[in-house]
Amino acid sequence: MKKIITVLLVVALLFSMAACAGTGAKNDKFVGISMPTQDLQRWNQDGANMKEKFEAAGFKVDLQYANNEVATQVSQIENMISAGVKVLVIAAIDGKTLTSVLASAKTAGIYVIAYDRLIMDTDAVSYYCTFDNYMVGTIQGQYIKDQLKLDDGGKYNIEITAGDPADNNALYFYQGAIDVLQPYIDSGVLTVVSKQVKFEEVATPAWSTETSQARMEAILASFYADGTQLDACLCSNDSTAKGVTNALASSYTGKYPIVTGQDCDIVNTKDIIAGKQAMSIFKDTRTLAAQTVTMVSDLLAGKTPEVNDTKSYDNGTGIIPTFLCAPVFADINNYKALLIDSGYYTADQLK
Ligand code: BGC
Repeated sequence: MKKIITVLLVVALLFSMAACAGTGAKNDKFVGISMPTQDLQRWNQDGANMKEKFEAAGFKVDLQYANNEVATQVSQIENMISAGVKVLVIAAIDGKTLTSVLASAKTAGIYVIAYDRLIMDTDAVSYYCTFDNYMVGTIQGQYIKDQLKLDDGGKYNIEITAGDPADNNALYFYQGAIDVLQPYIDSGVLTVVSKQVKFEEVATPAWSTETSQARMEAILASFYADGTQLDACLCSNDSTAKGVTNALASSYTGKYPIVTGQDCDIVNTKDIIAGKQAMSIFKDTRTLAAQTVTMVSDLLAGKTPEVNDTKSYDNGTGIIPTFLCAPVFADINNYKALLIDSGYYTADQLK
């Protein structure tokens, strides 16, 4: 009897050791992905692309969306830490709100990758993987400059809509565009009729379509109701562009302005096809996801991940080594090649 019990105990012990080894092996490749919201198309694509690519690389994935609520994002990250993730990939809702939860991640030896948006005020972030945010703004400003042929002189009116002040990217987008357009504002070729130019005056909390629409409707009512021509609306992304084009549709009857955007969301690409939005920035989320998976795989394999920027992104605790992917613009002339031929969308999705 004693013998049987001993044998049973040994077998049980072997089983539990095997189970632990199994979990350990799995957990070594366990990643938590924290995305801000499912409300905007791009984050759904980012999340889905990363999940697919991480799983193909043998990772276990916990993917969560935080409904644009900081407290939800913090608690989702806390749960990921308790569940034993080895890496966190985070697109922060508010870049300044994760200091405390990421201190716990650091203590637990978890690598943190800031995804698309830099996470501020924490030394827990190992790397940042994003698109060149300043270049996004530069391309938008350049598009307006080229379309209106600002170098030929003339007089044009413009209004500016920027992004969420809680998102570190928003100022980069704004600054990139303003650095192109400011000389023409200074020389009087471009006039911001509302006089709202400063980032704080043109920002859109939470990148909300409703907020940008309400602000644009107020501007149109106050400054353009007398027939004043509006030639361009610089909008930092597609959700804010949608608010602006909604406002134009309801309360502007002059010659239609150039409206910029970013993300090539399906509704906005349809607006490009319909002539309501002139351009959007195409940030291929497949590229960003693939780059992030490579970065994480290298980190876990003990290799130094590739970066291409070691000077631009200081998060308050020092420079975060960054990989910048390149954005490009899409408009009516090239959207088919960029978005359909590349397999990003099907032609049917854009009908
Ligand atoms: C992203 C943009 C996006 C915006 C709103 C930014 O951080 O870089 O692509 O449009 O957030 O979600």
